[in-house]
Amino acid sequence: MRRKIVAANWKMNMTGETAHNFFSQLNQMTWPDDVDAIVAPPNLYLQGLHSIKGNAKLCGQNCHSEQSGAYTGEVSAAMLSDAGASYCLVGHSERRKYFLESSSFLKAKVTAILDNGLFPIYCCGETESERRNDTHFDVVKNQISNDLFGLSNSEFGKVIIAYEPVWAIGTGLTATSDQAQEMHYFIRSVVREKYGSDIADDVCLLYGGSCNTTNAKDLFSCKDVDGGLIGGASMDPQSFLQIAQSF
Ligand code: 13P
Repeated sequence: MRRKIVAANWKMNMTGETAHNFFSQLNQMTWPDDVDAIVAPPNLYLQGLHSIKGNAKLCGQNCHSEQSGAYTGEVSAAMLSDAGASYCLVGHSERRKYFLESSSFLKAKVTAILDNGLFPIYCCGETESERRNDTHFDVVKNQISNDLFGLSNSEFGKVIIAYEPVWAIGTGLTATSDQAQEMHYFIRSVVREKYGSDIADDVCLLYGGSCNTTNAKDLFSCKDVDGGLIGGASMDPQSFLQIAQSF
């Protein structure tokens, strides 16, 4: 049975105080029982939010692939776990673009995340020009197979995949529900080819890219969309809740 998930990616936003206020407000609201809430604050705030996060699960925004060592400024998956995270984002297009993260690095990160008992939320998606050139299916298939298909069945069973078309992130342009469903169906069939039907039917596929209170209902009504990875609209508890109520 697939879970319904609404995950917040705050990126490099919020302060310790606003993050704390977010959870204080969220804890006063009635969150739908059948929807999992996951919040990825800046890594720095994970530990401090642990006691106030309520039923939400915490997620790191990034980690290094090594367990420890001379990597100034970096944080390991072990440290995220120690700080109270249960999940970690990996492969976000902003990391691929601004930090030039390669497929071999992403693969190693996914392994480190799993080895430390966290669940990876693996992000993939095509750029605008890749969609214009009609290569979006190939791009997404290559990302997933290069970065994830070294995993065993039991490891892959712990991965959540977020399809985030780069042209929709932070732009106000959202994939239509037809576009989202088409790609999510495709991703599930790529997973089926490699890992078989049981795993493909169970893998949670989230949509990300300008998902908000206005379009979430439409997107979440798609058969293969199991929820959302939300950026801008996730920092206000009321709108985060409203998105969770959109299934
Ligand atoms: P926006 O919802 O702000 O477009 O961001 C999406 C995203 O990148 C989530 O990881």
